[in-house]
Amino acid sequence: MSEDDADRIDRNRRHFLTVATAVTGVAGAGVALYPFLASLQPSARAQALGAPVEVPIGSMQPGEMVRVLWRGKLVFVLRRSQEMLGQLANDTANLKDPNSEEVTQQPSYAANDTRSVKPEYLVVEGSCTHLGCAPIEDFDVRPSESWGGGFFCPCHGSKFDLAGRVHTGVPAPTNLRVPPYRFVRDDLILIGQDTGAA
Ligand code: FES
Repeated sequence: MSEDDADRIDRNRRHFLTVATAVTGVAGAGVALYPFLASLQPSARAQALGAPVEVPIGSMQPGEMVRVLWRGKLVFVLRRSQEMLGQLANDTANLKDPNSEEVTQQPSYAANDTRSVKPEYLVVEGSCTHLGCAPIEDFDVRPSESWGGGFFCPCHGSKFDLAGRVHTGVPAPTNLRVPPYRFVRDDLILIGQDTGAA
């Protein structure tokens, strides 16, 4: 492992701990919000059994990502900027599966250049395909580097691009998985259901 990689892992481990603390704080805040959310979302039992989860995206800015839970799994929804979308074409030489040929890792409607229904919005499970750690975001676009930004797994150093495509030379074997999802409206995504228009 290079010194740069060791530094990046160190930085990201610190970031990971900060994020973990923040998530704990959010979970605490969630208790106060629960009565309001309960009126909008399926019951906890229904969600555990796999009910779809709605994600409002109308106020998301380019470069912003939200995390939601679906079937107990972490799911990332990232609104990609034009710069991020432009970076996808730069990355392909360093990817294990640039064309999403591993059919288990995405529905057929996401087996395209952006791995998404609409290029601007990436929806992927936040679970590293090596041993299941949660990757953390590093969205600084770096066209001149072999890894131009995306998701980094602090556990063993796996790197994924801004479409969740895994890089060569890392332990993760496959791209991040795209769950089933569809757009209910331009400003609302439904994760866990793709029947009807994707
Ligand atoms: S769990 Fe992500 S690299 Fe090992």
